Amino acid sequence: MAERVMQAVQYTGYGGGAAGLKHVKVPIPSPKKDEILLKLEATSINPVDWKIQKGMLRPFLPSKFPFIPCADVAGEVIEVGPAVSSFKAGDKVVAMLNFLNGGGLAEFAVAPVALTVSRPSEVSATEGASLPTAAATALQALKAGGTKFDGSNKPSNVLITAASGGVGHYAVQLAKLANLHVTATCGARNIELVKSLGADEVLDYKTPDGTSLKSPSGRKYDSVIHCTTGIGWSTFEPNLTTNGKVIDITPSFKSIVTTVLKKVTFSKKQLVPLLLVPKGEDLKFLVNLAKEGKLKTLVDSRYPLTKAEEAWTKSIDGHATGKIIVEM
Ligand SMILES: NC(=O)c1ccc[n+]([C@@H]2O[C@H](COP(=O)([O-])OP(=O)(O)OC[C@H]3O[C@@H](n4cnc5c(N)ncnc54)[C@H](OP(=O)(O)O)[C@@H]3O)[C@@H](O)[C@H]2O)c1
Repeated sequence: MAERVMQAVQYTGYGGGAAGLKHVKVPIPSPKKDEILLKLEATSINPVDWKIQKGMLRPFLPSKFPFIPCADVAGEVIEVGPAVSSFKAGDKVVAMLNFLNGGGLAEFAVAPVALTVSRPSEVSATEGASLPTAAATALQALKAGGTKFDGSNKPSNVLITAASGGVGHYAVQLAKLANLHVTATCGARNIELVKSLGADEVLDYKTPDGTSLKSPSGRKYDSVIHCTTGIGWSTFEPNLTTNGKVIDITPSFKSIVTTVLKKVTFSKKQLVPLLLVPKGEDLKFLVNLAKEGKLKTLVDSRYPLTKAEEAWTKSIDGHATGKIIVEM
């Protein structure tokens, strides 16, 4: 029988940026025991995808070359592995692919059933593919900062940096759903947009107030969801409440040293590095919020698979407002 093939975009070594991406025909993968074969409708690009290509996570990722990047997808179930009973051919789903294998920039991919959830008709493929990494990171960062989503929060103030980005724009909305007072930073062009997501006050990050992170209403922050780079502890520290925590989703060697120093000196103010732990239950929670219209996705731009390089370049540029999508 002729081998089934698909269009995919892959790279064969570290570096090269968009020019390192190649359009190829490769075999359609087969689902293993706990996997689902999806015909993809959309994939979103996250900064981690090109950071892996740059070699910033070597020697762990990618696990092999050639590598088809991207993990956040929405699509339709084509075939299920022998141990999968919760989905059937024709179901619409949102999934996070196994990071070790990647596979999102392609017409088909296999997803682990544990990280696959049903996509209701109210949630478009674009919205669905936007959620797995960015919204789940926002959710886990808020939880790490002490935020609860059961209505039991005491009044508290959160600062969200880079609130116009993929993670930040979800963090603003999730923080408001949890009844927090939200101060946000973004560029001047996005101030009104970030306010429309619910932020109570917004700082232009290029102004002196934005650089110092001072709340316009004089508030100190109980937590900070730090979604950009280049802001040191000495800037955060004076803006925190006594037990304030900075949840750092972009940890560096320098920030890890600060984290350790704060720990060993029993500082009440803490710098907490956060790495997303993919969880099916979080994805379900987020897809449900999207279904109920409580969590909106800002779409920066959409590209067909044939123009995946343009999407890649856009993400590397670092100025997306919301999510960058590749549609199949
Ligand atoms: N730890 C984890 O598990 C985890 C998970 C997801 C993401 N991340 C990391 O978190 C970071 C954010 O991810 P993302 O997907 O949100 O990125 P993104 O969508 O590419 O972020 C772009 C946005 O950041 C804004 N921005 C850039 N510098 C800023 C600054 N100094 N102050 C305020 N806003 C600024 C840009 O605004 P302008 O265009 O106006 O400059 C743009 O709107 C990335 O480094 C990513 O790798 C980590």
